[in-house]
Amino acid sequence: MTAAPVTVRVPAKVNVQLAVGGRRPDGFHDLANVFLAVGLYDEVTATAGAAGEGPVITASGPDVGSIPLDTTNLAAKAALALAAHHGVAPDVRLHIVKDIPVAGGMAGGSADAAAALLACDALWGLDTPREQLLAICAELGSDVPFSLVGGAALGEGRGEILTPLEVAGPFHWVFAVADGGLSTPAVYRECDRLRQESGGGDTVADVPAPAADPALLDALRTGDPYALAAVLVNDLQAAALSLRPALAGTLATGTDAGALAALVSGSGPTCAFLAPDADTAAKIAVTLAASGTCRGARPAASPAPGATVVRTA
Ligand code: C5P
Repeated sequence: MTAAPVTVRVPAKVNVQLAVGGRRPDGFHDLANVFLAVGLYDEVTATAGAAGEGPVITASGPDVGSIPLDTTNLAAKAALALAAHHGVAPDVRLHIVKDIPVAGGMAGGSADAAAALLACDALWGLDTPREQLLAICAELGSDVPFSLVGGAALGEGRGEILTPLEVAGPFHWVFAVADGGLSTPAVYRECDRLRQESGGGDTVADVPAPAADPALLDALRTGDPYALAAVLVNDLQAAALSLRPALAGTLATGTDAGALAALVSGSGPTCAFLAPDADTAAKIAVTLAASGTCRGARPAASPAPGATVVRTA
């Protein structure tokens, strides 16, 4: 009997603190990365594939023209990694319903990888222990473990070593989606270049070790948007603005429209605005969408749960 298709829903993320240390010898940067999952979701459905065909990717949604449909897609890599881990055939059809902005700094590709991993695990009846799933996630990319876990978490190392955080809420956000993405490696390179240019150096020896801000962890715990707004910080923001100067106009528009704070999400170019309540978030989204400074604006609340099986047919 062929196993029934499995659908997994997975959230986007925003980094409420992204403290970036110096460049390590392996090219990555040590982080203090406070992840918060937000209620914008992709869905990945895994269906049994024909013997020998490997992972086959299809996608639907407004932006799917720019995502790869071959084995360079992180969802396909997740299926291959799980199959290799168990010594089973990687035959699966993965359909991605894409709502998270593509290459937007909201971990959309990582989300699809975590969702594909969970969906294949259920489809193939593997019941892989959580720690092993998290280890496979970490091999796939720095943000993938958080997409599996959701909620709020501190990511250390290159972001893959997670400590769950207590989080109240809801926090109300607006996300302004830009035209075109930004490459994460290019933004980190620009961060290094700006640090060198300012004479500070860019290696682990030059840059103070990143650390989570206790005031920010308190703001998450108490669910206070005013306290959180006062301490939001993204060390990649200057680099994203340097590569995409027009984002300054987007940030200013949302702040003028009533956001408590604005910041670039991760490596950008999506801009995140923290609102005091859901009504204000809806108004900020309307103002941003009409402003011509972004391609669209989406209100969303956090925290959100991590990758979750929502349907088996
Ligand atoms: O881990 P992931 O594949 O998402 O990383 C993509 C790229 O982002 C890396 O190749 C590296 O250039 C950069 N990166 C980094 N330091 C991190 C995470 C990512 O330099 N902590």
